[in-house]
Amino acid sequence: MPPPVKLAIIGGGPSAFYVASRLLSLLPLKDPMSPPLRVHMYDRLWAPHGLVRYGVAPDHPEVKNCTNKFDATATDPRFRFFGNVNVGSTPLHSIPHALHLPLTSILNNYSHLLFATGCTMPTLHPAISPSVYCIPALSLVHWYTQHPSQPPPPALDEITHLTLIGQGNVSLDIARILLTSPSVLRQYDVPEHVLEVLSRSTVKHVSIVGRRGPLEAAFTTKELREMINLPEASMVPIEPTLLTPPSGVALTRQQRRTLELLQKGSKNRPGSTPKSWSLHFYRSPASLTLPSSASALDMANLTLAHTRLDPATHRAVPTGETSTLPTSLVVTSLGFHADPETTFFDPALRHLRSSAGRITSPDGSALKNMYASGWAANGAKGVLASTMIDAYAVAGTILSDIAPSSEAVTTAAPPSPEMEIAPDELLNRRPDLDALPAEIAHGIKDGMVTQYDDWKVIDAEEVRRGGALGKERERMGWDEALSFIARAAVIN
Ligand SMILES: Cc1cc2nc3c(=O)[nH]c(=O)nc-3n(C[C@H](O)[C@H](O)[C@H](O)COP(=O)(O)OP(=O)(O)OC[C@H]3O[C@@H](n4cnc5c(N)ncnc54)[C@H](O)[C@@H]3O)c2cc1C
Ligand SMILES: NC(=O)c1ccc[n+]([C@@H]2O[C@H](COP(=O)([O-])OP(=O)(O)OC[C@H]3O[C@@H](n4cnc5c(N)ncnc54)[C@H](OP(=O)(O)O)[C@@H]3O)[C@@H](O)[C@H]2O)c1
Repeated sequence: MPPPVKLAIIGGGPSAFYVASRLLSLLPLKDPMSPPLRVHMYDRLWAPHGLVRYGVAPDHPEVKNCTNKFDATATDPRFRFFGNVNVGSTPLHSIPHALHLPLTSILNNYSHLLFATGCTMPTLHPAISPSVYCIPALSLVHWYTQHPSQPPPPALDEITHLTLIGQGNVSLDIARILLTSPSVLRQYDVPEHVLEVLSRSTVKHVSIVGRRGPLEAAFTTKELREMINLPEASMVPIEPTLLTPPSGVALTRQQRRTLELLQKGSKNRPGSTPKSWSLHFYRSPASLTLPSSASALDMANLTLAHTRLDPATHRAVPTGETSTLPTSLVVTSLGFHADPETTFFDPALRHLRSSAGRITSPDGSALKNMYASGWAANGAKGVLASTMIDAYAVAGTILSDIAPSSEAVTTAAPPSPEMEIAPDELLNRRPDLDALPAEIAHGIKDGMVTQYDDWKVIDAEEVRRGGALGKERERMGWDEALSFIARAAVIN
């Protein structure tokens, strides 16, 4: 039988769960050829599921069905989840209550290690610094998902015009939430305090600015169609010349559909609704001039550099012209990168240094028994389906190391690319399979570390509270969850 395997996974998002579920199902508990296996997952958030809980827009509830699979994974007796645990040197200020676990504790207690830490930092624009007039999209996403970092609510009752920079799906998520009536959003997983702010919103127009053209827009057609069909908002028609494809260019299916939708325009006639939105192509922010007095409703001036597409590189290049867009709030939605404080962060890539699922050293050799998956390994691109495909491939790589003669490797794992693997082991070759790092054992005793059963108790209570209000769920924050878990433990 192969030697025992004790795998620590840092991160409890979809990538982490897909790797864990694949490994546990390909190495069945009762198979004598499977190594004795333990999978311990750590997340700095007290609740599991990463961006599925703290990112996916509330009016897309079907996207969250993947959590049924994650729940099934968590019932495997070889699996444990430890929430509210920040591993490594990432700054703690964003989640003040998280317990700190040094990476050395993981290295001393585990034989294998997977980084599934995602890309948790918003990319900012070099020309505009964050201020009361300019915030990253992630602040709004964290606000409406009640993320433990607790950003302040946006002053939506003091503004009329909001500008999103970036034309990806996160921009459209935010625009849709701001332009949908709270009476429609009420049925979903939107916290009551968020609905209350949205119901006081005075936002009348959302501008969505992109540095390239409609054919290069990063949003997908499903999300664009939802914008076009918003019941209470209309789109400002787009200059027809911008929607004429250059002759001789073969369009992809997605590009054809995007042009068709933009040519057709919104379901509601322009100007017929109290709220509206517009797409601004070939515009890149150059500066933001704040109003001299900071009284409510005073607008800032966003200077936009006009751009064109360089036909050779497909990059946006400035034409030399500029224009000004008065706006109450700029929201930058330019994608995400990994936390530079994470061990193995590569500043050039802006995510962890890895190859085919293995963490690599700068010389390109792989570090023994260390892996990376999901956005941490590949950068902030792709949806849940692509995250799952990547995770299954990484599980295949791990499998080929831990059970090379198992039938699962030959039938399910892709062939592992030939790579030099460093002989040094940073991890513990023979850890005690069921022992926990001392900090975690104490954290559980003190009630500071959440486990999957705790989450299921909170999950059921959130759904029950939501049901009473006629909605999908009503979320709890950390303090409330903590006392609820403690009470449930006393009762049981
Ligand atoms: C706002 C938004 C909306 C999205 N909506 C959709 C959608 O509708 N449909 C779709 O298919 N895809 C959507 N996506 C994409 C999808 O969420 C990603 O493909 C997926 O979440 C990536 O999974 P991951 O596990 O790599 O990262 P994440 O989901 O980010 O998980 C990483 C986890 O690691 C934890 N972590 C990080 N550092 C540490 C540390 N030091 N210690 C402990 N834990 C740590 C984080 O807390 C987090 O829980 C969306 C993305 C965003 C940003
Ligand atoms: N409903 C869903 O399925 C859903 C919802 C949310 C997110 N997601 C996925 O999550 C991933 C991340 O989404 P995202 O919207 O954050 O990122 P994204 O898709 O990468 O879009 C980022 C946008 O920002 C622009 N941008 C980047 N740097 C810029 C700069 N310096 N100046 C001006 N513009 C700049 C990009 O333009 P360029 O193209 O010119 O670089 C692009 O328009 C994507 O894969 C997305 O599909 C999916």
